[in-house]
Amino acid sequence: MNTIDDYLATFDSEPGYLNWAAFGPLSPSVREEVFADADLLGSGRPSSLALVAERVAQAQEVVAQLLGADAADVTVQPSSTQGLAHALYGLSGAVIASTAEFPSVSLTLERAAALSQGSLVARWLTPDDGRVTPDAVAEALDDEVGALAVSHVDFRTGYRADLAALRDVIGPDRLLIVDAVQSFGIVDEDFSVADVVVGHGYKWLRAGRGTAFAWFSPRARERIVPVLSGITGATGEGLPVDDRPAPAASARAFTVSGPDTLAAGRLAVGARTVRDAGVGEIEARIAAHVDAIIEIADRHGIAVSSPRERAQRAGIVALAPSEPARLAAALANAGVVATARGAAVRVAPHAGTDAETIRMLDDALAGFGNETFISA
Ligand SMILES: Cc1ncc(COP(=O)(O)O)c(C=O)c1O
Repeated sequence: MNTIDDYLATFDSEPGYLNWAAFGPLSPSVREEVFADADLLGSGRPSSLALVAERVAQAQEVVAQLLGADAADVTVQPSSTQGLAHALYGLSGAVIASTAEFPSVSLTLERAAALSQGSLVARWLTPDDGRVTPDAVAEALDDEVGALAVSHVDFRTGYRADLAALRDVIGPDRLLIVDAVQSFGIVDEDFSVADVVVGHGYKWLRAGRGTAFAWFSPRARERIVPVLSGITGATGEGLPVDDRPAPAASARAFTVSGPDTLAAGRLAVGARTVRDAGVGEIEARIAAHVDAIIEIADRHGIAVSSPRERAQRAGIVALAPSEPARLAAALANAGVVATARGAAVRVAPHAGTDAETIRMLDDALAGFGNETFISA
């Protein structure tokens, strides 16, 4: 499978699914990988176990290709939150983050700061619109600040941060820690401006849970103490028995224990699939679906609170009707799967979202408008 058309043909979930920012139904190739690798592990043959163990290096390799990084600097992780914990618990100084971030950023920073006895301080941003812009960061900067932690694409507002501009604002010496959960594999980005990038495969890569990764640039490895380093993170080969060696100098220091090889296989396949199809091609298809959804919302008089400009968004549209709970119910009744949270209903298409799904949304929003009219 090499072309974008082959890739689009792999989307086989039922029409109506617009919840890719929450969970990506597993792709056929990931499902096949699960069964094949489970059979290999079921055999107990050392050669079969070794074959499945190779998935870890394969996952590191393909994630590195998508990041434009070295495979040795990529670690596989059980969750992106754990990747962020490796980065944030090992920092000192002030770290800028928004209080409106996904809690994997904000709560992890809060916990790390609480444990640090004052050596790590959270410098909270509270921008009115929840957007971490270069201006908002510039206002919070001073000599104490050593890092910025930010979601590339915000889970709620759908806002895509300008990583290059954020790098310009913080300068070359501070660390840029990026949560790329809502962009990895669907936004053709230059991640080399960052120092740490975490992501996972259970949304846009269609690879299921347990498929996270964290990349640590050489500068990040110099500055972040691997305080959560475990038995796989030590110097030397193999299990450190009868010894307590220091953490490795490589990114491996930011690992705890042996990785889930079945999960690594799913990550490798999910990431390889988007690499082969082309992230730019995927991004363009998603952008066209988002354009269509915004047009539908406008036509039915439903406010859109997520960005309209392509450069400021990825796969998330936040609908902000006056009665969000009623809209959420109308979508559910129409068989449209979305996420309702607070004042917004989040709708998230993927490249392979079909015309029938967009039509179902259109019909549901049309019906929603009419209900308002009838009950008024
Ligand atoms: C922006 C963002 N970061 C982190 C996470 C959580 O990731 P994980 O489950 O891999 O810890 C999510 C999940 O929705 C998310 O949207």
